Amino acid sequence: MTKFYMTTGTRNFLKKAQEKNDELILSHGSGHSVLMHETNGPSVFQTPRSYEVIASVGELEKIGYFVLNNIPVTDEGRPIFEYRFKNNTSKLQDHVGFIAFRLLRPINSDTYIVLTEWSDPKYYDLWKNSRDFAQSHKEDKQARGTSIYASKSYVTTYRTRPIDEEEHAEAISEEE
Ligand code: HEM
Repeated sequence: MTKFYMTTGTRNFLKKAQEKNDELILSHGSGHSVLMHETNGPSVFQTPRSYEVIASVGELEKIGYFVLNNIPVTDEGRPIFEYRFKNNTSKLQDHVGFIAFRLLRPINSDTYIVLTEWSDPKYYDLWKNSRDFAQSHKEDKQARGTSIYASKSYVTTYRTRPIDEEEHAEAISEEE
């Protein structure tokens, strides 16, 4: 089964590691950076957060906008949670700017990650406000607060270019 590993660190340290291994994706969140590695082999990280890829749409790309929905699930809730994703991801590919989706089952924690990658944050926003998103999440209003969730979910976002570089790029394009 394909694995997915993540490690957190400072931008410069992770950048050096990324330069040595072409399979690694470097991205930047608020206050920290992460390296992501999807592989059939072992992790190259010393203390990774480790996941099994249990559902997958599209290929991960090195440049994009990552939105990770982190969902803590109880042990008993795992089969129910995973079952709900079966056959429920087919419409993602119809959305403009969609690059990839992964459902990540945690190996060393209780927190599943629903990862999506978009070519630009605005396309994530469009999907988030779409009928398809409402449709695939409508039952969750009832499910929330029931025992399958160990605690509240939280979203983390990562850009593959550091924010200062993005601002710089925007400044350049405005000059053109
Ligand atoms: C309160 C917050 C959320 C909870 C508890 C939650 C939970 C779930 C569950 C249980 C499903 C399975 C589908 C179903 O039950 O019908 C699902 C689908 C999905 N969720 Fe969430 N979700 C939340 C918000 C988000 C956010 C912010 C994202 C952004 C990455 C996201 C991404 C997805 C994706 C990509 C699917 C696959 C179905 C689709 O294509 O719409 N979810 N979610």
